[in-house]
Amino acid sequence: MTARPWISGRDYTWAPPRIPAKDLTKRETGLSALQCAFFAHSAAAGYSGRRMSKPVVSKKVLALCGSLRSVSMNAAVLRAASRLAPDGIRVELFGGMGLLPLFNPELEAAMPELVRVFHDQVASSDGLLIASPEYAHGVTGVIKNALDWLVSFEAFVDKRVAIFNASPRSVHADGQLREILTTMSASLVTDACLDLPFRGTGITEQGILDSSHAADIRRALALLVSGARA
Ligand SMILES: Cc1cc2nc3c(=O)[nH]c(=O)nc-3n(C[C@H](O)[C@H](O)[C@H](O)COP(=O)(O)O)c2cc1C
Repeated sequence: MTARPWISGRDYTWAPPRIPAKDLTKRETGLSALQCAFFAHSAAAGYSGRRMSKPVVSKKVLALCGSLRSVSMNAAVLRAASRLAPDGIRVELFGGMGLLPLFNPELEAAMPELVRVFHDQVASSDGLLIASPEYAHGVTGVIKNALDWLVSFEAFVDKRVAIFNASPRSVHADGQLREILTTMSASLVTDACLDLPFRGTGITEQGILDSSHAADIRRALALLVSGARA
């Protein structure tokens, strides 16, 4: 089994080393320095690599969080989505959002390693799920930077994308995200986009699982991949 320290989710299969993520080294793990940094970042972000039951999985959703906060509400929404995914759908959180280099078209010729990993993850997914805060009436730099790396990426064209807006009063970022994704020729699955009224509630990942919105999240994930390739 290939080690995949850069992702996590319901079907995560790599057992993390029994040393603190911050102390990972190439010698101890056999991972590259970049992978060590990446995993340490993912662990710090709360992507624990929890091993869970393994249903037969045929569809994969790649989740992108536009916040790097360790207690991000948007990250909690995506982690909850990962746990709520119906059988046959696996939601994997991309743990490298804060480690992608700032987009520069001149870097595309010799693609940075992490961008290549990101592209592979996007290409192998049946849909993308985005949850991101609004900063100063705009999308966050984190999500825009990640999307900029996909502008010229052919596999992104017609990719099915859903947006979960955990702060429905943040209308500017949501509108901009839709405009950006449409411009990039993504296939925005509007029926799978959700307004989730979690802002200011202090809701946790477990709280989301227990909330009345859990069924909506499940339904949205099914809709997101329902028209994806077989
Ligand atoms: C620098 C900054 C700017 C913000 N600007 C806005 C804004 O323009 N509109 C808004 O609705 N919320 C704004 N917020 C609030 C965040 O969108 C809100 O706290 C969000 O829930 C944070 O998401 P997270 O918990 O996933 O990090 C801002 C927060 C920060 C830190």
